[in-house]
Amino acid sequence: RIAYVNGQYIPHANAGVHIEDRGYQFADGVYEVCEVARGNIMDMTRHLDRLGRSLSELRIGWPMNRKALQSVIAEVVRRNRVYNGLVYLQVTRGVAKRDHIFPSADTPPSIVITAKRTDPVVSAARASKGIKVITVPENRWERVDIKSIGLLPNVMARQQAKEQGAQEAWFIDPDGTVKEGAATNAWIVTMDGILVTRQAETGILRGITRTTIFDVAKKLGLKIEERGFSVEEAKRAREVFMTAATTVVMPIVAIDGESVANGHPGTIALSLREAFFDIAE
Ligand code: PDD
Repeated sequence: RIAYVNGQYIPHANAGVHIEDRGYQFADGVYEVCEVARGNIMDMTRHLDRLGRSLSELRIGWPMNRKALQSVIAEVVRRNRVYNGLVYLQVTRGVAKRDHIFPSADTPPSIVITAKRTDPVVSAARASKGIKVITVPENRWERVDIKSIGLLPNVMARQQAKEQGAQEAWFIDPDGTVKEGAATNAWIVTMDGILVTRQAETGILRGITRTTIFDVAKKLGLKIEERGFSVEEAKRAREVFMTAATTVVMPIVAIDGESVANGHPGTIALSLREAFFDIAE
């Protein structure tokens, strides 16, 4: 495997960054994960738009211009011969002597890009079974709209999910409203067949897969309501699922150990998943 690190393509096993990189010391950086499906890098424009937004919110510069970045991403995919898989891209505020204050303006941001293969047969098998979620109290900072590499609450929540036999953890507000998963957006389908997902203005990351599913749903003639929903409403829903570049549409079949509907993946979730992949062709 080959990684791109600050202007060079390096064997993955030997790739590294400086010990005083601000990503390493302060989690002072942002990231993107893009899906590669049948040789296409999905939603590249939306990912780069969101990267630009994350960077500007934190006042980190672009590591190179957008067009160059797009070709480097494609080159990393090509050099790793990824036909189905994931691209990981991380930009930090660069290398500087440890100090909370921003380094001088001429400090170049650091950039790392990697790509890995995933097996579509394995993920399809997972989707046909569905996954389980647990709920945990929201304990993240308020700026979760920024795709920051500071992910400790997410790491702790996912680990807790795993230890409880689940695959994802949902962050819940004190009033019982579902925010999103540790690395996924949360959705339900009402008994009337309406898709519901929380509005992206506050409290969640505006997922790229979430946005693309809006397009897919429109094509399938499905209605979407952007609003919060409670854990209780989700438990009584017709279907529950989550979206992310890593999982696309993944049915959820249990919440805190209680089965959703009949305990099997929902048909709407599975048809959204299929329709999403049709876009990739
Ligand atoms: N996570 N919410 C959170 C907190 C996320 O970390 C992610 C993505 C999403 C879904 O966004 P998208 O559809 O753009 O992937 C929602 C990535 C995949 C990760 O951390 O691995």
